[in-house]
Amino acid sequence: MAGRFLYEKENSLMSLFAVITGASSGLGAEFARQLAAQGYELLLVARRADRMQALADTMPTRCEIFPADLSRTEECDRLVQALEWRRVDLFVNNAGFGACGPFSSIDLDRELNMLEVNVRAVHILTKRMVQKMQRQGSGALLNVGSSAGLLPAGPYMATYYATKSYVVSLSRAVAAELRAAGSPVYVGCLCPGPVDTEFNAVAQVQFALPGISAADCVRCALAGIRHRKTIIVPGRWMAAAMALSRLVPVGALIRLTARQQKRKLNG
Ligand SMILES: NC(=O)c1ccc[n+]([C@@H]2O[C@H](COP(=O)([O-])OP(=O)(O)OC[C@H]3O[C@@H](n4cnc5c(N)ncnc54)[C@H](OP(=O)(O)O)[C@@H]3O)[C@@H](O)[C@H]2O)c1
Repeated sequence: MAGRFLYEKENSLMSLFAVITGASSGLGAEFARQLAAQGYELLLVARRADRMQALADTMPTRCEIFPADLSRTEECDRLVQALEWRRVDLFVNNAGFGACGPFSSIDLDRELNMLEVNVRAVHILTKRMVQKMQRQGSGALLNVGSSAGLLPAGPYMATYYATKSYVVSLSRAVAAELRAAGSPVYVGCLCPGPVDTEFNAVAQVQFALPGISAADCVRCALAGIRHRKTIIVPGRWMAAAMALSRLVPVGALIRLTARQQKRKLNG
């Protein structure tokens, strides 16, 4: 125990430290670049070690990589263990992917893997990191949800929308509990619309709407964290669309979403 306090005391003199999952491409890699530019030391987590190492080699601050498949519980546990004695100032739960098509034709194993990454890993890491930050007496955790998670349902991308609803709901509830307890620990949820990353290639779709850049999305996310916003929707148009969507009856909103999703399938 004493060793632990000594370690934390020593560590408080060190740079801020952030952990980013899904850091081998897209938003995760951009979080890494912008946080390193702010002086954060980093731990990058994803499966593709070569991609993370190439990114780490360009960083101006200390940057380590932690290759892991977060669809596996034991890999989430291994990450938590590796962080046991390390103070984590910011944890970005960003790893995730989507799949597009009619519900009955998407491969079940692919969907179950999506649930493991988008829901189970996010759940495990949110719980373990919030507990850790409560012990530390401070810290911030950002879950990367999606504007999909703010909508009632997403036909032709049903499972992905459902996973992101889970992330939004969980983040909102945990944030409310922390606020009610007067906790210094922050939990927020980033809910972007389309962003130009490798997401499309993985989901095998074309966006129906133009995407914003990963750099703009991450700048907005980091500003949202500074302002302790629980739900962060990057981009003025997307924020306005999400606010307006609350005025539209649920049935009509689902039909509208279905139309957008079908356009993606048609390229
Ligand atoms: N792009 C968009 O339009 C958009 C919009 C809203 C929300 N989002 C969300 O933003 C997050 C980041 O996506 P992105 O757009 O940046 O897409 P991306 O470029 O495809 O990045 C996804 C990241 O997740 C990692 N990942 C996937 N499965 C993993 C696993 N089993 N274990 C560990 N890491 C895994 C990938 O790394 P490896 O393949 O190397 O493991 C990759 O680094 C996702 O949660 C996505 O749902 C994206």
